[in-house]
Amino acid sequence: MPGPIIDPPELGEEAAPCRQSDEAIELLSRRRSTSVEWLTSPGPSSQELSAILRIGARAPDHRRVTPYRFIVLEGEDRATAGAAVARAFAAANPDADQARTDVEANRFMRAPVVVALVSRVDAAHKTPVWEQQLTAGAVGQNLLVAASAYGYAAQWLTEWYAFDAEVARAFGLSHSDAVTERFAGFFYFGSAAAPPRERARPDMATIITRFADITTN
Ligand SMILES: Cc1cc2nc3c(=O)[nH]c(=O)nc-3n(C[C@H](O)[C@H](O)[C@H](O)COP(=O)(O)O)c2cc1C
Repeated sequence: MPGPIIDPPELGEEAAPCRQSDEAIELLSRRRSTSVEWLTSPGPSSQELSAILRIGARAPDHRRVTPYRFIVLEGEDRATAGAAVARAFAAANPDADQARTDVEANRFMRAPVVVALVSRVDAAHKTPVWEQQLTAGAVGQNLLVAASAYGYAAQWLTEWYAFDAEVARAFGLSHSDAVTERFAGFFYFGSAAAPPRERARPDMATIITRFADITTN
């Protein structure tokens, strides 16, 4: 059954500061990414995708800079965008054989819906670049959680093409004095062909310190 589409509060409307949700705790405690190799159809419907992106865009954002945007790849667009990835790959690897280039051309075909999350940094803004980048990261995590809540498996990937200038150009990313755009990553959404297994997690004892226990020299 498709998940509900919940309207966000109206501007200025009182919003609940918190609400206990055992289901949300369970989802957050156990959510896993699904490797793109295991993603299959169906992916989110256009209504569900809109909701997932809207939830993504509810990430904390100091001074409302909106330092990110989304580029949606569905249907044929995945092949067209993949061709740009393959061209960039072939230009950088002139000796690569056709089979290898085909792998690149099919990158975005690995899931029914792919969303490029673009970080958009305004270096002149009062909000530090670092904070703008953190916001884009928080958007990414919201996307994964929202997709999971709607019943879709997802993976956040950068691979090589997120760092390639030719691919950035093909996606229309801008690099001007006013704003620097770069890929925060590509979000692959679909259904899991097999359940992912838990991976190693941080040893919490090594990442939590009490301030009282800090010694400085
Ligand atoms: C910014 C970013 C880029 C990533 N790029 C890749 C990648 O290119 N290849 C890859 O195998 N995993 C990549 N990952 C890791 C996976 O998306 C995922 O975090 C990992 O498989 C474990 O996910 P989970 O803890 O949500 O289950 C990336 C993660 C982040 C946050």
